[in-house]
Amino acid sequence: MRKKENILPASDKLGILIPGMGAVTTTLIAGIIAVKKGLAKPIGSLTQMGTIRLGKRTEKRIPMIKDFISLPGIENIIFGGWDIFDDNMYEAALHAGVLDKTLLDKIRPDLESIKPMPGVFDPDYVKRLHGTFVKKGHSKMDLADQLKQDIQQFKKANNLERLVMVWCGSTETYIESSEVHTTLKSFEKGLAENDPAIAPSMIYAYAAISEGIPYANGAPNLTVDIPALIELAKIKKVPICGKDFKTGQTLIKTILAPGFKARLLGVSGWFSTNILGNRDGEVLDEPMSFKSKEVSKLGSLEYILQPEIYPDLYKDFYHKVRINYYPPRGDNKEGWDNIDIFGWLGYPMQIKVDFLCRDSILAAPIVLDVAFFMDFAARAGMYGIQEWLSFYFKSPMVAEGLYPEHDLFIQLKKLKNTLRYLMGEDLITHLGMEYYEE
Ligand SMILES: NC(=O)c1ccc[n+]([C@@H]2O[C@H](COP(=O)([O-])OP(=O)(O)OC[C@H]3O[C@@H](n4cnc5c(N)ncnc54)[C@H](O)[C@@H]3O)[C@@H](O)[C@H]2O)c1
Repeated sequence: MRKKENILPASDKLGILIPGMGAVTTTLIAGIIAVKKGLAKPIGSLTQMGTIRLGKRTEKRIPMIKDFISLPGIENIIFGGWDIFDDNMYEAALHAGVLDKTLLDKIRPDLESIKPMPGVFDPDYVKRLHGTFVKKGHSKMDLADQLKQDIQQFKKANNLERLVMVWCGSTETYIESSEVHTTLKSFEKGLAENDPAIAPSMIYAYAAISEGIPYANGAPNLTVDIPALIELAKIKKVPICGKDFKTGQTLIKTILAPGFKARLLGVSGWFSTNILGNRDGEVLDEPMSFKSKEVSKLGSLEYILQPEIYPDLYKDFYHKVRINYYPPRGDNKEGWDNIDIFGWLGYPMQIKVDFLCRDSILAAPIVLDVAFFMDFAARAGMYGIQEWLSFYFKSPMVAEGLYPEHDLFIQLKKLKNTLRYLMGEDLITHLGMEYYEE
């Protein structure tokens, strides 16, 4: 078992660099400022509000996670990032329309002081956006070098020891891993030769990992889930994770489906539809960006229900996901689920879920937790794919040959047991025989 002493201290400041400073990012940054000023609470964040049980139930040791693993205080976060529009965080937050203007006005100077750096962009990867604040370079390698310089300057200007990068940029068009993605050598050649199969998000990931900075992918883009960048992460000993934050409808799915399976209830169909009107919705209105999201959203049920192991219950279940761009709703998405289930002797039943959620309100605490846990992973000497952070993702990255674990409750156990393991505490199996032994 690892020893606690091997984990480097959180020291003072942590830089969080975010490519894509839109709805999710501004909701996070404004939220952190509001929490620091005592105007609100960080609801939904495991690192800020969660606890962890240690040892036997009779010991009553239940510290806050942030105290148990020594995380930086939120007052020690320094935010930076990139966008393809030059709005400062106040303007971008107003545009996103998630948080009330009255709250934003109370923290306006703090928000206005955070401005994006010009992004690396390729309209072929996000067809609905026409970025105006974009880097120019003679090759993709040159653009990666410019990002590395941005990172170094940010680090120096803010006197930072440690940084993490979390992608909150738009969903890119759907691509599959191809020849150029297979080895670091082919990838670097592709960067130098402007290979079209290298997406902007991959250029950010390459720059971050090369600089020794953990990289998390909040969108369904392929990005860091390619052999070349996994290879680089191992060489540089950098943690990586993704893909696609698990927020609204998929969160509900991975809460409900494990319950049906636990009680051996059959599922014959699950139809999910969404309306949303934010910029994310506009981007997802484009078929190839939607395809990235669709693939990411469809996976969870197949893996949780395991039709090949339970053919009588799930063999022919029909699963459909739709996302419709509907501007009047803004960030306040509505997700409907119609679930056709069956029980004893095959008698059918139905469940309807209508989740009137707020996308960025659900995503912001995830960005914070992922950033803190990725920094913790780096301090603990972990690198490569961080499967224990599957809890936060719709389409978790896993080692080759493994199927991803989607069940939210197994994911949470995995996360907490990883923390116990790294801190030299006993793992909790929930066996509990010792309480009944004479
Ligand atoms: N909100 C959620 O619940 C949720 C859940 C899972 C995943 N996501 C993903 O998170 C991402 C952000 O969501 P959002 O609602 O904030 O979207 P958004 O459209 O409000 O923000 C995305 C920002 O990224 C910028 N951008 C696009 N390409 C860029 C590039 N190459 N470099 C730098 N900036 C770039 C855009 O200009 C925009 O400001 C999306 O990919 C979305 O699919 C969101």
